Amino acid sequence: MYDYRLLDDPLQILSIAKAAFAVRNPEQRAIEEWLASSLEQGRELYGVYGDNSLVSAFMLYDFQMRLRRSVVPMGGIGLLCSRLDARGKGAVRCMLTNSLETMQQKGHTVSVLEPFDESFYRNYGWEKFSRLQAIELSPSALRIPEDPDSEITATDFPFPDDESVAFYNQYATQHHTLAQRQQQEWEKKCTIILPWNEDTAARGVVHFSSDDQVVGLMEYELTRKSGEYMSTFTTNLLAYERDDVLREMMRYLKRLSHQVSIIRMDLPMDCDLWPYLVDRPKKWTIRDMFMIRIVSLEAMNGLSIDAPDMSLCIDVDDKQARWNHGIWEILVDSGILGVRRGYNADLNCGIGVLSSVLSGFSSFREMISARRAEPKSSYRGQDLPKATTFLADYF
Ligand SMILES: CC(C)(COP(=O)(O)OP(=O)(O)OC[C@H]1O[C@@H](n2cnc3c(N)ncnc32)[C@H](O)[C@@H]1OP(=O)(O)O)[C@@H](O)C(=O)NCCC(=O)NCCS
Repeated sequence: MYDYRLLDDPLQILSIAKAAFAVRNPEQRAIEEWLASSLEQGRELYGVYGDNSLVSAFMLYDFQMRLRRSVVPMGGIGLLCSRLDARGKGAVRCMLTNSLETMQQKGHTVSVLEPFDESFYRNYGWEKFSRLQAIELSPSALRIPEDPDSEITATDFPFPDDESVAFYNQYATQHHTLAQRQQQEWEKKCTIILPWNEDTAARGVVHFSSDDQVVGLMEYELTRKSGEYMSTFTTNLLAYERDDVLREMMRYLKRLSHQVSIIRMDLPMDCDLWPYLVDRPKKWTIRDMFMIRIVSLEAMNGLSIDAPDMSLCIDVDDKQARWNHGIWEILVDSGILGVRRGYNADLNCGIGVLSSVLSGFSSFREMISARRAEPKSSYRGQDLPKATTFLADYF
């Protein structure tokens, strides 16, 4: 009934996306430009056709993302939508199932998306992946004594220089589940300001250096509401290895107090800022962000992982990607994950549960306790340690 393929004419998605995301008239021209620039940068649009007319579509992004201790190809799904008159008729179900084959052919190990509704994507094998803490505070709430001997210099750049880009990419291979960023990703972040970002005044990075070496990077956006004097400084990336660099970052933020009234930060769950604060932040919320799905279990073989040796056989239920369906032996040997076909399962679970556990967001113990995974009599409690997941790219 439906025909899935790469979009014949990318502009076909415009009318569907405008309605599906209720894009207001003044914003529509920008959507066209954004779409054109996305395609130039290598994103692809796929969709399903019914009677030769497009009924639903999505944009596929190609990322290199850290997973456990390796960097793997990740297929990002965005702009997913269907025509108003096609709703509830299975077009998106058909499209998501086919998208897995596309991603498998492209060599993506996993797929990540930001869900509008978790239960919708859970049906197709995506499961919870990342959680962040959103902090809002006034710069005057920061308490960091000045340090005249500090040798760290902070420099504001509207666009990261080559050293900053290299520093970030090196950092992203070692921390959380960050994605690599090339010139085009930084351009999207720093230079493309769309009509719905009408409060945006400036974007860029603050580069922290010591002995002519980059030692930290803070990405930011400065916004101000029309008619107001004070502005808001938002950052969702504090990249640092050393405590004195974090301290210098906090000092930098504190010094903005004459202009900035609010600092907003989206931070990984393991970043604890309270020792730098005189009081509780104005707002402090926990938000679940992305969901993840294994595209190819076989491609997880060889992943570097910080986990003790273990082995177990899992009967994996994957209704959409049949190549993942069946019994697999998952083992860790000297910090390397082994994944191969197995016999006699110790545990039954769906691909979503396994995706969340292998990503580090959840554990078999949690999943068994919630009855999302079913242990057999041979299961001896084998598990993988959880890890802090955090992705700072939105798509
Ligand atoms: C979300 C959206 C893509 C779903 O598209 P759709 O064409 O209705 O999808 P399908 O007909 O293929 O249905 C997919 C599943 O959702 C269910 N579903 C669809 N509409 C539903 C509704 N209004 N209420 C409850 N379930 C619904 C279907 O039953 C189906 O489940 P199944 O696979 O178990 O049968 C569409 O509503 C949309 O474009 N929304 C606006 C844009 C958006 O929010 N995109 C998501 C960005 S992350």
